[in-house]
Amino acid sequence: MKIIAGNWKFNKELRNLEKAINFVEALEEKISGFNNVEVKIFPHDSVLPQLAKKVEKIKIGAQDIHWEEDGSFTGAPFSAKDLISMGVKEVLIGHSETRAYFGVTDEKVSLKLKAALNDGIIPTICIGEDIEEKERGETEGVLRRQIEKGILPALAIYREQFSENSSLQNEVKSKSSFMLAYEPLYAIAGFAKLRGLEPKSAQIGDIKPAIGIIRKTFSENGYPEIKILYGGSSNPENARELLSHPCIDGLLLGTASWNFGSFFEMIKVAEEISLI
Ligand code: 13P
Repeated sequence: MKIIAGNWKFNKELRNLEKAINFVEALEEKISGFNNVEVKIFPHDSVLPQLAKKVEKIKIGAQDIHWEEDGSFTGAPFSAKDLISMGVKEVLIGHSETRAYFGVTDEKVSLKLKAALNDGIIPTICIGEDIEEKERGETEGVLRRQIEKGILPALAIYREQFSENSSLQNEVKSKSSFMLAYEPLYAIAGFAKLRGLEPKSAQIGDIKPAIGIIRKTFSENGYPEIKILYGGSSNPENARELLSHPCIDGLLLGTASWNFGSFFEMIKVAEEISLI
């Protein structure tokens, strides 16, 4: 089953509650007969609790969390416990825009990840290199650093905590307790535009080896089966090609998920491909 996830970022239209609810309700209806694609939306916090109440099939997640539950943290996003109380069970962690604009380091990714796992929230952890790093041949080093510093220690602590409970340990090892998103910065439309470039998806020739490195690093550390999404300028034109590669479990969309038509079209492609 392929996954199509929409990151609504700071899109102004979709921070309008009425428009966001209409979008989600209409999508619920359109995908009611789809059984082979998992659809997720990560709306802005401003509409998150209300949308979480409207969905049955679509999974709603937050774009970020804070690692503490309480305290002097002006401007912090919701805590993991807040999400639970709203019925939100998914979260993006370490999105490159939170890393670039809001100072989210690998250490903070680790704290956020621990908080999410502790409360049973499914994190989609975003990693990826930028163009200069790619051109210097540092892709593997960057991905390994992000995984080894930001992700594995948090997963290990969580596993240790439940070392007496093998079913929980297996849950952490299993496919469903966390997900990765490989999002090379140079392919993310927002970053491309800031640099005056045309948004362009990464080439499959670059995506495949990067995903291979991610799988190998996790596998070496006892996580042989992980789900990995690709994100960065995916759209209805390139969705079929991207999704048809078995190494890509799904797509994390930004821009293309802000438009109902393009989002639905890509969900339809994923449903068809999953059926093959
Ligand atoms: P775009 O699809 O707009 O390039 O954004 C990708 C992304 O950052 C999803 O998290």
